[in-house]
Amino acid sequence: MARHTFARTTLAALSAVTLLALGACSSEPPSSDGGDGAEGGGDELISVGFSQVGAESGWRSANTMSIKDALTEENGFELSFSDAQQKQENQISAIRNYIAQGVDVIAFSPVVETGWDAVLEEAKGAGIPVVLTDRAVETTVEDAYVSFIGSDFVEEGARSGEWAVEQYDGEGYKVVELQGTTGSAPAIDRQQGFADAIEGSDLEVIDSQTGDFTRDGGKKVMEGFLTAHDDIDLVFAHNDDMGLGAVEAIEAAGMTPGEDIKIITIDGVKDGMAALAEGKFNYIVECNPLLGPDLAEVIQKTVAGEDVEERIVTQDEAFDQEGAKEALPDRQY
Ligand code: AHR
Repeated sequence: MARHTFARTTLAALSAVTLLALGACSSEPPSSDGGDGAEGGGDELISVGFSQVGAESGWRSANTMSIKDALTEENGFELSFSDAQQKQENQISAIRNYIAQGVDVIAFSPVVETGWDAVLEEAKGAGIPVVLTDRAVETTVEDAYVSFIGSDFVEEGARSGEWAVEQYDGEGYKVVELQGTTGSAPAIDRQQGFADAIEGSDLEVIDSQTGDFTRDGGKKVMEGFLTAHDDIDLVFAHNDDMGLGAVEAIEAAGMTPGEDIKIITIDGVKDGMAALAEGKFNYIVECNPLLGPDLAEVIQKTVAGEDVEERIVTQDEAFDQEGAKEALPDRQY
C-alpha cells in the first residue's frame, strides 16, 4: 500500500513534537491555554481543526463522540470542532478558518465528494496536512491529504445486495432505495455496490430517492413510495435512521415492517440494532463510526514526520435478527 510522509519543515512543528514527547513524561496534564507554559505549556499540544458533516444521524453522533474522546488534551491535542450542518459551504469556511489560525493539522469528513480543490490547495499552500475521515473526496490536487480513514462503502452496499439475493432471489422482489445525501461518497458507493450485487437476480429497484441520511427524510420519502407503489417488497436504506423513518411510514400505512415489507440498512447503531432484534429490520451491514483512535494516531505520526497509511479501511460486521439479539447488550453506540 502507498504511504505518505508529510514533511514538517517549520521549527515550531519540530518543537511541538519534542515538547509532546517531553510532556508524555510529565505527570501534569498538558495545558491548551497558549500561555507561558507554566502549567505544562500550550506548545506541546497538537492543534487540530476538525470539520464535522453535521448531526444528521445516530452514526454521526457516535462518530463525533469518538473523535472528541480521542482528541483530548490528556492525549496531547487541542481540538477545534465545528458542525457544518450538512452544508459544504460551512465546511469550506470552517477549513479556511483553521488555515487562518495556522492549526497543526486539519481533519474533516466531507459532506459531498466534489468541490474541494480550492480549499485543499489552500491548506497545502499553507503547509497544513489534511486527514480525511469517514468520506472520500474526488480531487485533482496532488497529495491533497495524508490519509483517508473510513469504511469501504461500495463493499457495504455489495454486502447488503448479496444478502438480499441470497434470501429473496427467485421471488421477483420489488425494491425501493432510500439514498443518503446526494453527491456524498456513501450514497454514491452504496448505491453502486448494491446495484452490482443484485445484477443478474430477479430483484428490481423500482424507485430510488434521497432521504438525506435523516429519520425524517426516510419517513417522508417512504410515504411517497407507498403512495406511488403498491407492490414494494424490500427497502434498501443507506443508513439506519432512514430505515427507522421507513418503519414509521410502513406502520402508519397499516403494514408490518420486517414482514410485509423487508428492510435492509447500513450502520448498526443501537436504535437500528434494536429494530433488527425486534424483527422490524431484516439485515444490517455495519459501518463502524469509532474513527477517533485511528485519527489520533495518524495525526501524531504525521506531526512527528512518520509514515502513515494513505488508506485505512475500517472493519465492519453484518447482522441478521439473531445476530442483533446477541450483539445488542454489548453495543457501544
Ligand atoms: O458517512 C457515513 C454515513 O453518514 C452513515 O452511514 C450515515 O448514518 C451518516 O449520516
